[in-house]
Amino acid sequence: MKKLILFVLLALSPLAVQAAEHGPVLLHAPVNAQDKVSLQNGAKLYISYCLGCHAAKYMRYERIASDLQIEPKLVQEYMMFTGDKLGDQMNTKVDPKDQAKWFGAAPPDLTLETRLRSPDWVYSYLLGFYPDEKRPFGVNNHVFPDVAMPHVLADLEKEQTPEAFKQSVGDLVNFMAYMAEPIKTERERLGVFVLIFLAILMIPVWFLNKEYWKDVK
Ligand code: HEC
Repeated sequence: MKKLILFVLLALSPLAVQAAEHGPVLLHAPVNAQDKVSLQNGAKLYISYCLGCHAAKYMRYERIASDLQIEPKLVQEYMMFTGDKLGDQMNTKVDPKDQAKWFGAAPPDLTLETRLRSPDWVYSYLLGFYPDEKRPFGVNNHVFPDVAMPHVLADLEKEQTPEAFKQSVGDLVNFMAYMAEPIKTERERLGVFVLIFLAILMIPVWFLNKEYWKDVK
């Protein structure tokens, strides 16, 4: 019995260490690289609510249009700053130096953010704002204490039910995860073909194996 208790404690200790190192317990982000509707909604949200401050300069509008199957014309009309071209990178129009002056910290490029922090972290962060009068924007964050970013989704949160808001943030994080690894959708699709191919290959291999061993027995 003592051994069992010791075993359980040892098995759980990495979890305790992890919790201590990584701070708050994170929510699980609903990431699904195959869900085009969610990714399209996420792209729209990112461009409306985040791109004003956070560039995503390793991504181009053209690639979003083709990967997420959005008409290039719609991307151009509704998602891009006027003057930008389809082949352009997703940049902000504001100088990071000015932003650093305004906010106290420059908003980083977010193309690879979900790989840096994990989708769960970003999801929990975006859902983690709470009122705090002591902070310059009147909000603080459970996941990123004393963050210099305002709660930019506050209006959306007010407009939607809590479930719908969580879904929107989920779509947004899903899009950010796609952006950090755009090849994933393609890789998963290829993976299925590879498995089917291997399954079919097994048939001749099985017969060949039988043929080889026929005379040995
Ligand atoms: C008004 C400008 C502004 C807007 C709009 C904005 N942010 Fe921020 N964001 C910031 C600033 C400033 C920081 C840096 C905070 C710091 O270091 O304290 C930041 C930090 C972050 C971070 C943490 C980066 C890190 O790893 O250190 C994430 C994630 C993030 N923002 C996501 C978003 C998302 C997603 C949106 C759109 C819903 C968004 N932000 C919209 C200003 C903005």
